[in-house]
Amino acid sequence: MSKEKIALAYSGGLDTSVMIKWLKDKYNGAEIVAVTGNLGQQKEIENLESKAIATGASKFQFLDLRKEFVEEYIWRALKAGALYEDVYPLATALGRPLLAKALVDSALAEDCTMLAHGCTGKGNDQVRFEVTFASLAPHLKVLAPLREWEFTSREAEIAYALEHNIPVSATKKSPYSIDENIWGISIECGVLEDPMVAPPEDAYQITTSPENAPNTPSVVDIEFEQGVPVALDGKKMSGLDLIIRLNEIGAANGVGRLDMIENRVVGIKSREIYEAPAATILHFAHRELERLTLEKSVFQYKKNISQDYANIIYNGTWFSPMRTALDAFVTETQKPVTGLVRLKLYKGGVTLLGRNSPYSLYNEELATYTEADTFNHKAAAGFIHLYGLGLKTFSQVHSGK
Ligand code: ARG
Repeated sequence: MSKEKIALAYSGGLDTSVMIKWLKDKYNGAEIVAVTGNLGQQKEIENLESKAIATGASKFQFLDLRKEFVEEYIWRALKAGALYEDVYPLATALGRPLLAKALVDSALAEDCTMLAHGCTGKGNDQVRFEVTFASLAPHLKVLAPLREWEFTSREAEIAYALEHNIPVSATKKSPYSIDENIWGISIECGVLEDPMVAPPEDAYQITTSPENAPNTPSVVDIEFEQGVPVALDGKKMSGLDLIIRLNEIGAANGVGRLDMIENRVVGIKSREIYEAPAATILHFAHRELERLTLEKSVFQYKKNISQDYANIIYNGTWFSPMRTALDAFVTETQKPVTGLVRLKLYKGGVTLLGRNSPYSLYNEELATYTEADTFNHKAAAGFIHLYGLGLKTFSQVHSGK
């Protein structure tokens, strides 16, 4: 029998390190292609290649997916206003379909017959990975060792690693489970599992606490073109640089800490905290610009689309006709979302200082209460007469007055 070849979504952590050896044993000396995607995470990207090879992978690929992540995933979510259950900007959830697609591409290029990932059996990420695999490469077999292997604790995995000379990092493991990319950091487990426990300071990875943030606020000018941020403080820059910079400024001002109980795809509620300074700032700014530029019914209707779009991302159906159909709607709505939003970041808060747009629908001559007013006050009487006529008739019939 020829050797199997498995493409593994590799992070370099304990689970996927142990998994390389475990898969080779279980699948008759299978060849492992370890694939890591760079989505802008700061941690755990050093020495990955030597680690993967030392652990037994026959090949390692490090893919820089940051630009694609920003332009094809993050900006779509931002334009759609996608916040899961009104709070979570979906950093982890948005990254999964891209990582899964990249893994599929590598697997096909390397003639792999199987795909493996290190997600647990009770999370959302297994769903996102496997639904993406099913839509992009239904013929490849999917392996999720964490759902079936014999290890029941971290200690058992470490013992196995030591026994098989698998290098495990000596740094003390954080008590939290952390997933990180440029759009945000997701943090769970440890004391956070009790929803009544306030997040300890050490749970936060990048943000300063609002109490320790500077006493002078930071003011930022963000410019958008058709719903996409293109410049910061008057300087045009790439989406990636803009997000990196806003993460820094936001984090320094304690902006973007979120704490939520969320409804998972698999039916349980979980508590997770997030740090997402740039996402928080950009969603806020984008929405304020929409208030200025979107026609009333479009603005109000789009709220429903935002929720549907967030659910699609969260639930793992990114590669679906529904998502592309909603994209078409969102893209159409974003045509006038061009302009500038000025914000103040101060001790954890984001407040609006001003906004303008060449497509602003705010008409000062109509809105003003001064002499400059051009609004036709007399027309209001006739409008109200007809507008209220239905209710007036109803009342006459039902109350007999
Ligand atoms: N709750 C988030 C989601 O489902 C993040 C999941 C991963 N979290 C983590 N700390 N590893 O998208």
